[in-house]
Amino acid sequence: GPLYAVVPAAGVGERMQAGIPKQYLTLAGKTITEHTLQRLLSFAPIESVVVAVSADDPWWPTLPVATHRRIHAVTGGESRAQSVRNALAQVLMDGGEEAWVLVHDMARPLVRLSDIHSLLASTQEQGAILGLPVVDTIKQAADDQCIDTTLNRETIWRALTPQLFPAAALYEALSGDLASVTDEASAMERQGWRPALVAGHSDNIKITVPEDLPLARFYLARQFE
Ligand code: CTP
Ligand code: MG
Repeated sequence: GPLYAVVPAAGVGERMQAGIPKQYLTLAGKTITEHTLQRLLSFAPIESVVVAVSADDPWWPTLPVATHRRIHAVTGGESRAQSVRNALAQVLMDGGEEAWVLVHDMARPLVRLSDIHSLLASTQEQGAILGLPVVDTIKQAADDQCIDTTLNRETIWRALTPQLFPAAALYEALSGDLASVTDEASAMERQGWRPALVAGHSDNIKITVPEDLPLARFYLARQFE
């Protein structure tokens, strides 16, 4: 079926403490929003990119990319999961029941085209996500903050985006209680799906706290070396 991208961008960026939502901060002369969307738009197989923005967002309409032929904006929701669900409704209307969707955080402007290619080239009947094996030793804590056990690091991955799923199944999975749903894969897992993990790159950071900005500038410059 046709391929779409969904980009949740209706967050307020509380942890960034920037006074404006972090997706409108500038890196190397362009907003984070423009970096992210230009990378997705440069991937030709994507029919269109559905962006979930806040109802009262005054920054989005000022960006030239907002009127791009392959960009469609919808109103976001209370949570990231709800924003994704709102955008999926648009994908299903436009692309039909056979559509597949790449869900990607607006706050990850450093995603590499080569990683999007890897994700789409993976075995994907059950969906697939970009991820990274952890490098630290991981402890399972008890209620008293003492260690219960040390997990087998070999089996632990960090989840990144994009995450690739059939749009209709993901829309269905994102109903009911969304409190514990922090990515698309977790919603699919509770429906019994077993999405594949595809190794991405560690520069695909989610810009979250102030110190991520200089780090993002460093990675951005390095990508163009
Ligand atoms: N997002 C969204 N709708 C929400 C909350 C978040 O579309 N109700 C989006 C954000 O805009 C971001 C992505 O989901 O692109 C990942 O969320 P996060 O990094 O947590 O961004 P914020 O929620 O904006 O940041 P914070 O949690 O620090 O407030
Ligand atoms: Mg958040």
